[in-house]
Amino acid sequence: MNYRHAFHAGNHADVLKHAVLLFCLDALKKKPAPFAVLDTHAGRGFYDFQSEEAARSPEWQDGISRLWTWPEPPPLIARYLDAVRSFNADGTLRTYPGSPVLATANLRDDDVLIACELHPEEHAALKRALPRQANVQVHARDGWEALGALLPPPQRRGLVLIDPPYEAPDELTNSARALGPTLKRFGHGVYLWWRPLKSESALNAADAEARAQGAKETLRADLWVAQPSPEGRLVGSSVFLINPPFGLRDALKVALPFLAEALTKGQSGWRLK
Ligand SMILES: C[S@@+](CC[C@H](N)C(=O)[O-])C[C@H]1O[C@@H](n2cnc3c(N)ncnc32)[C@H](O)[C@@H]1O
Repeated sequence: MNYRHAFHAGNHADVLKHAVLLFCLDALKKKPAPFAVLDTHAGRGFYDFQSEEAARSPEWQDGISRLWTWPEPPPLIARYLDAVRSFNADGTLRTYPGSPVLATANLRDDDVLIACELHPEEHAALKRALPRQANVQVHARDGWEALGALLPPPQRRGLVLIDPPYEAPDELTNSARALGPTLKRFGHGVYLWWRPLKSESALNAADAEARAQGAKETLRADLWVAQPSPEGRLVGSSVFLINPPFGLRDALKVALPFLAEALTKGQSGWRLK
């Protein structure tokens, strides 16, 4: 487990993932019944853009930083920027909230977050980052194992964020396969599965596997800021949603071309399917 999200926080991939995450949370809150969020690979919670990691790998400067003072971004992105602004009260972008922090800030009293983080240092940081409250649970637990052990949640509704580091070469296929038993137990949950975009054919194969495992209602959004290639730096990402909330496709139709232009480093583009 060498992956540290601090080197990547706030990059183009986080912008897409976290904007979609917030849309999903807002959609779940449209109904009064409480829900649960399972964040299987939660990270450390907060990221400091003045840290050594961010200085060595300032991906955020070509990510959220380019959007920070944009006059009128599309609603999906405006909502995301407002959420990040709430952690940067003086208006200077320095603190970046990761997925468990964004989720916690957007829960109601009866909604629950279960965040799993296996790396000991990241887990300790996450425990410090999140408030001590009954509806926020942090586990030093394997996220894959949590999918089996913690679903369906007692609330019977909710969101599952699957955001592994993809350090192992077979992690994409294994993630798709993990959906099978999970969907059997919690088929009507909203799933947000993040994937690196290095090869379109690899993602198409992962989508086919996810469908074979029982994913029926799906939406995939890809964003790349330069031409993707199997080797080299990550220049694109893909979010695959199962049971996507109403309105997300339309919101992405506006947001993706905006992001492709605003974050471009060459041959940028997007895809929605
Ligand atoms: C991409 S980062 C998570 C970023 C976070 N979801 C966000 O959006 O802010 C992946 C995290 O998964 C952790 N991790 C790796 N393997 C894991 C496992 N089997 N179970 C839980 N966490 C794991 C890594 O330590 C890393 O912090």
